[in-house]
Amino acid sequence: MPERFTVTTPIYYVNDVPHIGHAYNEVATDVLARWHRMRGDDTWMLTGTDEHGQKIMRTAAANGVSPQDWTDRLVETAWIPQLELLNIANDDFIRTTDERHKIGVRIFLERLKEAGYIYHGEFEGQYCVGCEEYKTPNDLVPGTGEFEGQLVCAIHSRPVETVREANYFFKLSEFGDRLLALYDERPDYVQPEHVRNEVRQFVKQGLNDLSISRNTFDWGIKVPWDETHVVYVWFEALLNYITANGYGVDDERFERRWPATHIVGKDIARFHAVIWPAMQMAAGLPISDHVFGHGWLLVGGEKMSKSKATGIEPRQITEVFGVDAFRYYFMSAIAFGSDGSFSWEDLDARYHSELANGLGNLASRVIAMVHKYCDGVVPAVDADDDIQSLVTDAVGRADTAIDRFAIDEAVDAAMSIVERLNGYITEQAPWVLAKDDAQRDRLAAVLASNVHGIGAAAILLAPVMPESAQKLWAAVGGEGDVLAQPIREAHAWQGTGRVSTVPPLFPRIEQAQPAT
Ligand code: MSP
Repeated sequence: MPERFTVTTPIYYVNDVPHIGHAYNEVATDVLARWHRMRGDDTWMLTGTDEHGQKIMRTAAANGVSPQDWTDRLVETAWIPQLELLNIANDDFIRTTDERHKIGVRIFLERLKEAGYIYHGEFEGQYCVGCEEYKTPNDLVPGTGEFEGQLVCAIHSRPVETVREANYFFKLSEFGDRLLALYDERPDYVQPEHVRNEVRQFVKQGLNDLSISRNTFDWGIKVPWDETHVVYVWFEALLNYITANGYGVDDERFERRWPATHIVGKDIARFHAVIWPAMQMAAGLPISDHVFGHGWLLVGGEKMSKSKATGIEPRQITEVFGVDAFRYYFMSAIAFGSDGSFSWEDLDARYHSELANGLGNLASRVIAMVHKYCDGVVPAVDADDDIQSLVTDAVGRADTAIDRFAIDEAVDAAMSIVERLNGYITEQAPWVLAKDDAQRDRLAAVLASNVHGIGAAAILLAPVMPESAQKLWAAVGGEGDVLAQPIREAHAWQGTGRVSTVPPLFPRIEQAQPAT
């Protein structure tokens, strides 16, 4: 039986177009999914859009259209095209306005109510529409500029709104002990460690019940037993992970796909690692496999965001460097789990040193030499032992790194092959060996070692740079689809024994930063 790997991105708010922070999240999840597919796991990648709530309702009103028209337009013109642009191979795309989602949400709510976890009560709280979340005093900071003298949301730097309503509540407070036990029993449930500690600390301080409905606006899913309320946007959004997988309507499918691993930004780790597992416990569902909270892309030390006008659109980068370089850069330059600052200079430097000079140059030199010295036929001899063991070790390191969500370390392991081969060519100087007939065997081993190592690197890099890896793979004699290769056996691949030609994979770029 193949192992199950269901992996999800958060569902994105469609109040605006995507920026590279969202792209980061999508690419990382896609790399994990592609890696697991190449392992042969029963993989399913889910992504989608979060379309209800006040934030979107207000944006639509400000643009003079209905919320449904607004979300349809944004999904079609911005969010689906972004997946295509970034070469994301998601298996499903759920919108919270989908009928399947609404049906599943109602079923879930009914079950929670029957189980006694929902009650009606009065509430007053400080609400941040940007976060779509009630804030505690600890979440607020003194405002600056036009908000001087007021307390503002630490993430959005805007004042919160006082909300006083009679709502339905979820008995979140009952789950504190069970959540703490979950974190202790399954130390790898919330990752990385600093996010786990933060979540644990939050739960230890004691949990309040959660208001899960609103009745002052109607852009949402109606509470099944009281149509004057709509379900709180986060409460229903979290349910996308199960409503997309047949929850309540297709048990077989649900059993095959659930539980899942959630890749989220650290700002929303609490929702995924506190509220969501409590909801699962209340409904008697198996708890998600993992919640991984990655870091933020920063601009000027702050989280990049559209609302602060610091958002860079992915196409600004892909138009200059190409999609694969975009994917490679963000997956390798930032330790997955830590914050990272984007800069054009760093991207440009890494593109040229690691991709153009490192990988691209290695491939074209090796292929040219196999043509020149062996008429394009890869010598049928074993690779040198030290190269073979380096490659085998790199494959193992990369694969275990993926189990720790250390995507950057996996890329690093793949690139260690490239780096070693570049050094090896300089040491072995095949152009000198070629001049001496007595060195024919040595030359054969050096070329075979290189071809072999490049093929293995291409397989390891395929989840990150699918198109370039395919070209590289085919050029060194790989047959078929590189993404169909068993990634754990990358060191043992066998090709046709002939090299072809490699198109320029990473051309030099003169003007790195676009004029816009
Ligand atoms: N709709 C909610 C998620 C609901 S999931 C049940 C939401 N949407 S969002 O569009 O605001 O954010 C989506 C994801 O993008 C989050 O994981 C968030 O952390 C991530 N990012 C937004 N800005 C980011 C950066 N500057 N850097 C990295 N990730 C960023 O939250």
